Amino acid sequence: MTESAYLHTTRTAYDTVAPEYAELLRNELDGKPLDRAMLAAFAEHVQGPDAGEVADLGCGPGRVTAHLHSLGVNAFGIDLSPRMIDVARRSHPGLRFDVGSMTALDLADASSAGAVAWYSTVHTPPELLPTVFAEIHRVLVPGGHLLIAFKVGDERRHLSRGYGHELSLDVYWTPPELVADLLAKAGLSLYAQLIREPDDSEKPRSGRQAFFLAHKPENSPAHKPEASDPRS
Ligand SMILES: C[S@@+](CC[C@H](N)C(=O)[O-])C[C@H]1O[C@@H](n2cnc3c(N)ncnc32)[C@H](O)[C@@H]1O
Repeated sequence: MTESAYLHTTRTAYDTVAPEYAELLRNELDGKPLDRAMLAAFAEHVQGPDAGEVADLGCGPGRVTAHLHSLGVNAFGIDLSPRMIDVARRSHPGLRFDVGSMTALDLADASSAGAVAWYSTVHTPPELLPTVFAEIHRVLVPGGHLLIAFKVGDERRHLSRGYGHELSLDVYWTPPELVADLLAKAGLSLYAQLIREPDDSEKPRSGRQAFFLAHKPENSPAHKPEASDPRS
């Protein structure tokens, strides 16, 4: 699938299901202590009065942005779906949410203390992940942190129904070794991995869930030569 086709189908699908998705996932983190532990560890790295902004990439209805904000993180959200951004703004009126794509972020080089991609790369074809990771590397300050959550596996499933609607959406389960390799190639240094079994709410459709913490080394060059420039 070309980049523009994937972005179009993903945007259309989430525009269709935004309110229902928000309602279903509203309190989901309450029952996931390990997921919250990774968010708390990430928050410790990027919080504080002098800390810069943290971009929640593919923020959806903003529940993770708001959770990070409650932990003292200066977080804002970006999502492909304008209707998701409408829901996020209505649900969290004190926070900033912008429409945009993590394949071409409207953020300056070295401008973000941190980035989160919480199950938001699961619709990106694996061959396009290098574009996303290059963008994350570009916008992070040297020493900035990334937290990425994704589904473990090696398959693509096509959804034609979801959240009470007909839709068309591809979901990817990705091998952790591939994500680790692509992060390294983008210049992002992996320093913690949590892989947990599916909980009752995820069985039987989903398998293991992965949560990776990585950072952009202090001495990292502004652009990685082997990554294509997504803005060109
Ligand atoms: C499974 S939802 C996760 C939403 C949110 N992170 C959460 O956990 O509630 C995936 C989200 O990623 C967004 N998304 C997918 N590809 C994106 C891209 N290239 N740029 C920005 N957002 C994207 C979708 O619009 C959708 O809101």
